[in-house]
Amino acid sequence: MTAEEQKRQVGEAAAALVEPGMVVGLGTGSTAVEFVRALAARKLDIVGVPTSEATAALATELGIRLSELGETKTIDLTIDGADEIGPGLSLIKGAGGALLREKLVWEASRSCVVIGDASKCVKVLGKFTLPIEVVAFGHKTVVARICDALAECDIGMAPVLRRREGQPVRTDGGNVIYDVACGVIPEPALLAAALKGVTGVVEHGLFLDLADRALIGGPDGVRELEP
Ligand code: A5P
Repeated sequence: MTAEEQKRQVGEAAAALVEPGMVVGLGTGSTAVEFVRALAARKLDIVGVPTSEATAALATELGIRLSELGETKTIDLTIDGADEIGPGLSLIKGAGGALLREKLVWEASRSCVVIGDASKCVKVLGKFTLPIEVVAFGHKTVVARICDALAECDIGMAPVLRRREGQPVRTDGGNVIYDVACGVIPEPALLAAALKGVTGVVEHGLFLDLADRALIGGPDGVRELEP
């Protein structure tokens, strides 16, 4: 079974968790796209809260009613992909650049389910690059402080400004993103706290203690994991 088929499989399994009347956080990325498509196909009376402009556009096209974060009652369930799924359902997210809106929606949700193909599961976080969203104003100065925070956590790799067609990528919020090829993140909670302490860092892609459940695709069907 290809990764694409696994994504479709977990997207459908995740859509089956949604009940009529729910307010549902809609993730971003290729796996979340499969979930949004499968959810739309169920034609339930639900309200979606998108985590990016891209997801909002797709959901609107597919006929899902949308609301902005904060305009509805609590979000019942958020379903989203991840770049890495590590021990205790610790995650790296943000390859799609939507980490800030994703984290805001996740934190406002009663329950969060992460979905992914089998390749996303790792024993230690850090092989996939860690995105750090930084205010555009003075971002080159902020990077020096980020390097100090990384060094405190025994990570010596330098952050790299994310570019597309030569230009810095701007997030939906107008910020820039630096990616760090950590290799291994020995203590994700320590790193998360150190990054949060840097003025100018808007958010980072470590999602810790947020996922309640994971649905992982694989050749033998969908596997469920808990923290
Ligand atoms: C978007 O910003 C990310 O957090 C995605 O959820 C993550 O990159 C997973 O994307 P894929 O499902 O495309 O691998």
